[in-house]
Amino acid sequence: MAIALCPGSFDPVTLGHLDIIERSARHFDEVIIAVIRNPQKTQSLFSLEERQEMLKEALPHVGNVRIEFFKGLLVEFAKEHGADAIVKGLRAVSDFDYELQMAQMNQKLAGIDTFFLSTSPQYSFLSSSLVREVARFGGDVSGMVPKHVHDRLIERFRAEGA
Ligand code: PNS
Repeated sequence: MAIALCPGSFDPVTLGHLDIIERSARHFDEVIIAVIRNPQKTQSLFSLEERQEMLKEALPHVGNVRIEFFKGLLVEFAKEHGADAIVKGLRAVSDFDYELQMAQMNQKLAGIDTFFLSTSPQYSFLSSSLVREVARFGGDVSGMVPKHVHDRLIERFRAEGA
């Protein structure tokens, strides 16, 4: 049974993430979406539970996917869950340097391989951080995230602005 991890912060999940997750699920017996608990980047917009709910709601049609949280090293989580591989999406050459470095570090630490999927071209500009920024200032992010995520973004920023 081949198990793959799709790790990330998913704050919030975008159509680009879903594209990679759905395509990974066609190649592996099981895909674990590994949502990081302690992202080093910015403060999170959505709580872990909200991010989990949005992911769950977006993926009812994919039977071999489950969502888990992790903190610390991804390779430790991979070992605990018997994962054979990590899958990452590559949007552009600019992603490559850092992703290659992480893939090689994870390979060195635990012998785990990383598989790269090329992002579908219509999503190559997409990132959660840009979606948050555009939505925060009232820009239209429909077509970049599922409808229920769009609704939550609008609700969140309306509440913040109130
Ligand atoms: O969605 P993101 O924020 O780009 O995801 C980044 C993530 C969570 C995949 C990456 O930061 C990660 O794997 N963090 C876990 C900590 C870890 O294992 N660090 C060493 C990587 S070589």
